[in-house]
Amino acid sequence: MTFDKSFQNIQAMFNIISDKYDFINNIMSLGTQNYIKLQCIKCLHIRPDDKVIDLCCGTGDLSKIIKQIEPNANTIGIDCSDNMLAIAREKDKKTQYFQGDVTNLPYADNTFDIAVMGFGLRNILNAEKAVDEAYRILKKGGYFMHLDFGNKNFISKIFDILMPVFVKLFTKNSFAYSYLIESKRIFPEPQDLIKDFESKGFKFKERKDFLFGVISMQIMMK
Ligand SMILES: C[S@@+](CC[C@H](N)C(=O)[O-])C[C@H]1O[C@@H](n2cnc3c(N)ncnc32)[C@H](O)[C@@H]1O
Repeated sequence: MTFDKSFQNIQAMFNIISDKYDFINNIMSLGTQNYIKLQCIKCLHIRPDDKVIDLCCGTGDLSKIIKQIEPNANTIGIDCSDNMLAIAREKDKKTQYFQGDVTNLPYADNTFDIAVMGFGLRNILNAEKAVDEAYRILKKGGYFMHLDFGNKNFISKIFDILMPVFVKLFTKNSFAYSYLIESKRIFPEPQDLIKDFESKGFKFKERKDFLFGVISMQIMMK
């Protein structure tokens, strides 16, 4: 299946699936998604008054965890989908959420101490531009935390087979989850992603794998 990853198509798809998004994520991650996100945020050692941006924030999970760990951080979430943002605003009243395109951010160079992106890059047509933007808006010494699917190992292949079966039980929008499998298939593995990030000027700091490597986090420094 080929899917048109234009900004408008991706925006429309996430608007449609927003109401079941958190529920399906919990099923797909066997209930571990919040734990994994918490472990990733803990690695960042966020300080009071740090300026943090959650790129492709979706329903606001990462921002919410950031504010729980460091209530005095200044957190902003950006997403293209109004429906995903509406859920984020309901779940987390402490973060400012804005509709926008992470490939064209309305912030000056060297603004943020930390940028996080969970399960976003895979969905962006011009992913390189999104990484360039993350680099541009970070201060020197700032961190970029990226979280998404990891190595395409045996367990990951089992996930690809079982996931559509579960999803069909719970949602009519199974097209979005066929797209997910395809986007995951063509997405670089963590070791290649790290090289891509380095080619943009980032320095590698840390990698952590979860669920036998099916999910992977990378922390890069500007
Ligand atoms: C799979 S969700 C991830 C949401 C959240 N970060 C999480 O960890 O659950 C991907 C999100 O990226 C957003 N997105 C995709 N392309 C975008 C872009 N160019 N600019 C802003 N948001 C984008 C979608 O609307 C969607 O909410």
